[in-house]
Amino acid sequence: MSLPRSSSAGPPAAGASEADATAAARPAHTLDDQLLYDQIGAAAAAIRGRWTSVPRVGLILGTGLGRFASLIETDARIPYADIPHFAASTVASHTGQLVCGRLGGVPLVALEGRVHFYEGYTMRQVTFPVRVIKALGAETLIATNAAGAMNLDYELADVVIVDDHINLMPDNPLRGFNDDRLGPRFPDMSAPYDRELTNVARQAATELGVPTRTGVFVAVPGPNLETRAEYRMLRNLGADIVGMSTVPEVIVAAHAGLRTLVLSIVTDLCDPDSLEPATLEKMLAVAERGAGHLERLIPRIVAHLGP
Ligand code: HPA
Repeated sequence: MSLPRSSSAGPPAAGASEADATAAARPAHTLDDQLLYDQIGAAAAAIRGRWTSVPRVGLILGTGLGRFASLIETDARIPYADIPHFAASTVASHTGQLVCGRLGGVPLVALEGRVHFYEGYTMRQVTFPVRVIKALGAETLIATNAAGAMNLDYELADVVIVDDHINLMPDNPLRGFNDDRLGPRFPDMSAPYDRELTNVARQAATELGVPTRTGVFVAVPGPNLETRAEYRMLRNLGADIVGMSTVPEVIVAAHAGLRTLVLSIVTDLCDPDSLEPATLEKMLAVAERGAGHLERLIPRIVAHLGP
């Protein structure tokens, strides 16, 4: 969490310029937000310095999908630590590198691991890579995650094509100063999950014989899993699956004008009337199984996007 900077909270020091005085009159977070555009540019420039292609797609590889990167014809692997303003993941199940290359001839960048709000990062840090994917020239974002299923028809390791969401995160990545160069103040959310892409995903799944569901994802802050009463509430709200990521990224993607597809893997069943204790080990083991489906599905979806 960024704290207000005391240096800009008080009156300007003796000898300070007029610009400093104006700056001092504004809330500190507003000043930081105005730097965002330049920070995105610096991150994109660092990546371009090591990989000169223009990606068609940005792929976010969530829990259990680490292996996916081995399918990419890789030109460059860039640790997040080498990209200005990228946050490092503190979660063992998430590596932290950007894989740049081609999948079936289509140039793309894949984020091997994401950072989460529950790790203590700001929403701006959590969503920063999505801004950079856009700045590199991609038109499409494909994000994956692990989720718990309140919908009792769903089974472990099912792939869910997300077609809408409910945001219960306590902060919003677009809160604060809006830089019109990055997107509009009040982005439309009537269809943040691109209908054509969800249809392509369904078609690819049918071609491959991969069973999929289509459902509503609810985002919670975590890091604890939910109580039985909370699962009952989330189900009554209209959500099929629940997770601790992705929705902030989708909001920023909508703001930036990226077409978005989200694929979730069901890693635990969240039936409030017969809830089993969930452990990370069990969830990761199930995620591995679901990852097998996504390893077949994602290349086919990307191939549908054309060269
Ligand atoms: N809640 C419950 N189960 C889950 C979650 C969650 O946020 N993520 C993955 N499985």
